[in-house]
Amino acid sequence: MAELADFCVFSVLVTGSNRGIGLGLVKRFLELPSPPQWVFATTRDMEAGKSKEVRELACKYSNLVVLQLDVTNLESIQAARKEVEKCVGEGGLTLLYNNAGLLDFKDLQAENAKSMMTLYSVNTIGPLLMSQALLPLLKKAARRSPCQGLSSSKAAIINMSSNLGSIELMAYWDRLPAIGYRCSKTALNMITKAQSLEYAADGIMSVAIHPGSVKTPKNPIPEITVEESTRDIMVVLSKLCEDDNGTLLDQLGRRIPW
Ligand SMILES: NC(=O)c1ccc[n+]([C@@H]2O[C@H](COP(=O)([O-])OP(=O)(O)OC[C@H]3O[C@@H](n4cnc5c(N)ncnc54)[C@H](OP(=O)(O)O)[C@@H]3O)[C@@H](O)[C@H]2O)c1
Repeated sequence: MAELADFCVFSVLVTGSNRGIGLGLVKRFLELPSPPQWVFATTRDMEAGKSKEVRELACKYSNLVVLQLDVTNLESIQAARKEVEKCVGEGGLTLLYNNAGLLDFKDLQAENAKSMMTLYSVNTIGPLLMSQALLPLLKKAARRSPCQGLSSSKAAIINMSSNLGSIELMAYWDRLPAIGYRCSKTALNMITKAQSLEYAADGIMSVAIHPGSVKTPKNPIPEITVEESTRDIMVVLSKLCEDDNGTLLDQLGRRIPW
């Protein structure tokens, strides 16, 4: 794509990228006109059939490394961080894409403590722990970057949110209550805002992105394909600038109210 000709990222890690939108994003990074030197894809279970596609991709692309990662497990996070550090060295990690997520549709009556805690643990706490663990590598990337201001070519945390987490929009409320999911993404939005305030001084930008309503197996309201969503997200990433720090954007770069 001509608009991505100048988009350069030294290294990127996408969580939950053995399938769905995460895998789509990994493919897009690999296909960039100037692909990253390092692309880290992650899967919870390296041996599972659902990781076959990403493992096969790694045989084709020498810059793709597949890591085992469960974002709810601190040991797994630390082990993945060590692997990333070994590969990127002083170059650091340019882009952390917290994509891994769980979807659940329970309404106000059906929602329960167990399901809500699981959703928070993957959708909210996971991205927080990942950002904490990889912060030193993001800072390294920012320090070494010749780019002025904030951008995703310099250093960025991208948190995959959802328009279902917007309190002002309450998107699809009549069809998809999804209480725990909505709350987990609203809380992730708060984390994004806090990160944007805390890390801007280190040259790291933080943005929440809604990928659109994407045709994945669990989505009852599919509107666009993974290919369409990830193609558009790449354009948004390539254009992110200081003004976008601490905002929630959709896959077309339009601002979504909190
Ligand atoms: N699809 C949509 O329309 C839509 C809309 C708005 C926002 N989103 C958000 O976009 C992101 C990706 O969604 P998707 O539709 O591609 O979902 P998906 O097809 O269900 O894929 C989710 C990915 O997250 C991984 N994952 C789940 N729990 C994990 C954990 N504890 N540690 C590490 N990885 C874990 C899954 O791994 P396994 O294969 O091992 O389960 C899988 O790779 C999510 O954050 C979702 O909330 C999606």
